[in-house]
Amino acid sequence: MIDSQIKSKLKMFASFSLLLGAASLSSCSGGANQESETRKMNSADIKVVSEMKAELTSPPFVPKSTANREATKLIVDMEILEQTGEMADGVEYVYWTFGGTVPGSFIRTKVGDEVEFTLKNHPDNKLPHNIDLHAVNGPGGGAASSFVAPGHEITFSFKTLNPGLYVYHCATAPVGMHIANGMYGLILVEPEGGLPPVDKEYYIMQGDFYTKGNFGDQGVQPFDMQKAIDEDADYVVFNGKVGALTGDNALTAKVGETVRLFVGNGGPNLVSSFHVIGEIFDRVHVEGGDLVNTNVQTTLIPAGGAAIVEFKVDVPGELVIVDHSIFRAFNKGALGMLSVSGDENKKIFAGTIQEGIYLPEGGTIQSMPVEAKVDQPIVELSKSEKMANGKKLYGSTCFACHQANGEGIANAFPPLAKADYLNADVSRAIEIVLRGKTGEITVNSKKYNSVMTAQNLTDKEVAAVMTYVYNSWGNNGTEVTEEMVKKVRNK
Ligand code: CU
Repeated sequence: MIDSQIKSKLKMFASFSLLLGAASLSSCSGGANQESETRKMNSADIKVVSEMKAELTSPPFVPKSTANREATKLIVDMEILEQTGEMADGVEYVYWTFGGTVPGSFIRTKVGDEVEFTLKNHPDNKLPHNIDLHAVNGPGGGAASSFVAPGHEITFSFKTLNPGLYVYHCATAPVGMHIANGMYGLILVEPEGGLPPVDKEYYIMQGDFYTKGNFGDQGVQPFDMQKAIDEDADYVVFNGKVGALTGDNALTAKVGETVRLFVGNGGPNLVSSFHVIGEIFDRVHVEGGDLVNTNVQTTLIPAGGAAIVEFKVDVPGELVIVDHSIFRAFNKGALGMLSVSGDENKKIFAGTIQEGIYLPEGGTIQSMPVEAKVDQPIVELSKSEKMANGKKLYGSTCFACHQANGEGIANAFPPLAKADYLNADVSRAIEIVLRGKTGEITVNSKKYNSVMTAQNLTDKEVAAVMTYVYNSWGNNGTEVTEEMVKKVRNK
């Protein structure tokens, strides 16, 4: 009796383990899984016969391709520097850096490389640091093996098994703070044979910053732990600062060239909706891995993640690189430029081909705004009436770009407050309000290259809003009259 009970239990157990066995077999027999597992094992077997010092580059540049070399013992020598840098005009921040830049130096490796990594913590630094490379198969991505005090150096080693674009970052407590201060960068592991050749390659990394003061508040701005915890970023930028990729720092390409962007997101908190205004990504290595998506408008890059985006530039112009969480681009700094030079191609982009006045209730296309059609006698408002009307108009029309107190938006829209360009020439200013303005101008020794559209306002309205602007925020107190506006309009 007892015997048979035991036997039947044993039988049940046996069939249960069979089931388990089958289940676990089937879970590792999936094609893709097995393929990547095999490749990883093969990568581990790649022998290295040579040794070389890694070329490390500062953003936005990347080291040369590994396509023409075998796997090697790659010596990486990286120095940690804590140093004051510029976050925006007049705003300073104490950055903690890998190699003296944010993001840190770009490391370009190849599958099968043996990376011998030496991390040096400069004696002038205040804190211990380490490095966690997402390209490492091993505890902490190397964090525990690389922990190093100021005035010390440490060497650890790993083999690159998986091709892809990976983030590295400091992982010393408080981890969030080390990352928030700029301790991140990218390491590329190229597949055997390297990535296909392209004409231009660039390195871009997004990061969010948290300061005691608000965006643009001047002076040295300390890190704000509470804002970081609340994920309430003051700055969201590419390559460590506002304007790292605009103006003279803009990336460049020529019509017909293929551009490859290695894009990372250091976070610490925010996910990037990476987008280039005026381009479509022909190919995206999604999350920096093997999966290639084509014809992509915006690609999501997680904090601590990356993507490789590639596109051919077809027509000349300024392509605007943004986080399409768009307030970050226009109000927090996440804006860069890729300046494309070369010949127009009207077949691909014809530009504006016709412009007219749209009257929803019918009528013919007119060449001038309605209010200019009849010469009515001017009844000039008093200055205080202009100020009151002008303030209202400013609040409904101008403030979106030039901001409520006229300070403008750094690198995008020029200030009106204490603006030398505005105060120097009232007729020119009237003309810009009436007819719009494109192209580069310099205001208070900073360059702006944006578009102001022609404002569809009456002479009375222009006189009011401009009088308000000229009599606010430290400007020169000019009173603009309807007559002055009319003169410019009829010029
Ligand atoms: Cu650190």
